[in-house]
Amino acid sequence: MTNQRIAAILRGGEPEETVTVQGWVRTKRELKEFAFVEVNDGSAMANLQVVINADLPDFENVLKQLNTGASLEVSGVLVASPAKGQRIELKASAVQVYGDADPQTYPLQKKRHSLEFLRTIAHLRPRTNTHGAVFRVRNACSAAIHQFFQERGFLWVHTPIIAASDCEGAGEMFAVTNFDLKNIPRNDSQEVDYAKDFFGKRAYLTVSGQLEAEIMAMAFGNVYTFGPTFRAENSNTSRHLAEFWMIEPEMAFCDLQGDMDLAEAFLKYIFKYVLDHCPEDMEFFNERIDQTVLATAENIINNQFERITYTEAIALLEKADKKFEFPVNWGLDLQSEHERYLAEELFQKPTIVSDYPVGIKAFYMRLNDDEKTVRAMDILAPKLGEIIGGSQREERLDVLQKRMEAQGMNQEELWWYLDLRRYGTVPHAGFGLGFERLVQFMTGMGNIRDVIPFPRAPLSIDF
Ligand code: 4AD
Ligand code: MG
Repeated sequence: MTNQRIAAILRGGEPEETVTVQGWVRTKRELKEFAFVEVNDGSAMANLQVVINADLPDFENVLKQLNTGASLEVSGVLVASPAKGQRIELKASAVQVYGDADPQTYPLQKKRHSLEFLRTIAHLRPRTNTHGAVFRVRNACSAAIHQFFQERGFLWVHTPIIAASDCEGAGEMFAVTNFDLKNIPRNDSQEVDYAKDFFGKRAYLTVSGQLEAEIMAMAFGNVYTFGPTFRAENSNTSRHLAEFWMIEPEMAFCDLQGDMDLAEAFLKYIFKYVLDHCPEDMEFFNERIDQTVLATAENIINNQFERITYTEAIALLEKADKKFEFPVNWGLDLQSEHERYLAEELFQKPTIVSDYPVGIKAFYMRLNDDEKTVRAMDILAPKLGEIIGGSQREERLDVLQKRMEAQGMNQEELWWYLDLRRYGTVPHAGFGLGFERLVQFMTGMGNIRDVIPFPRAPLSIDF
């Protein structure tokens, strides 16, 4: 007897094989002589149909408990299914119910629930078709990412979550404090200095592992991070989270061109991997969520991305036959509506915009010879806007120091970062991919809160 996952049984199970499965009831249909119970264990979109005959010991009592949401273990023998749309079903010879689920109160009854409603029951929504598919695809994306880098000899490095400096210089960080929970509320004489309370020093939740990844790249050549990052921007949009996962490769001896090439190959690889590994889930998204999902995936895999400079982008936006809400002007940052116009309407594919004005980008980006632009690149995705942000880094000590000075930054705080330019500096580059935006892009899910199991965003932290 084998204990199997339902995905494997549906794919490869043969009549007369004996199996045991464990999972949760999706639906039950009762007839006089027998009952059909659809069981799901999260391994596949499809359910395994279990046929329970009335001669099973304790039939009525077992059946009474097998309502939607109940957990069970079934053993039996596989038989060819006479029903349409399924190859195989399970004839039960033993059923053990672990926990029932009261149909009066269990919120996930067999009907379509809105994504908004499901957000209020984040502890139960992983059991729905939609979130089952989302989290399987999310897992496949993670596997693809590691495989891509490992195949290419990149070292996965772990960068700290508690950080002392603001990598992006955007000032949108959460402070970390060694708050003594036992003594809450602190009395007035014990004012908390939030900005200096990590054992007497300043500490924040990291906004990016890039600066630490640069340290590692200066020893290992090619590295990548894959971890949670935090932004305290209070933006209540369908593309922003306060806690999101980011993948940040960093490559020594690499320029902006190499950076863009890697980013494009990377996205293509992930899309191909997910199409190969999660075909049913991707079909589900294409049918139920966004009918362009499969065509978009094919388009990404098979066509070159568009590449333009920021200056060209501004010219195209100025020429656009369209009223934008935000102004378009050389020197101003592109807004999401501009990004979407370029990638979605104009080019209809991912678009890499490079060489942004120095005034709107982070201090570490390499200054171009024109001294007006930096070697930055963003990848804009149709429907979403920015999904990757990256750059070649400023490897020249004197230029970097001038940039930091111009931005009013404290050079002492980043003494170690400057040391990297003092000792064995090399041209290097990297980028950050927002993991949830990737999953949104892949699945067509409209709201970023629906592609992470436990979203952290303004007004969204129940548990
Ligand atoms: O463009 P960002 O801020 O770039 C960096 O953090 C660099 N240090 C990356 C690097 O060069 N190593 O962020 C990178 C990506 C964005 O393109 C976006 O996809 C995602 O992170 N992102 C967010 N995703 C969800 N919620 C937010 N609040 C996000 N902010 C950025
Ligand atoms: Mg960015």
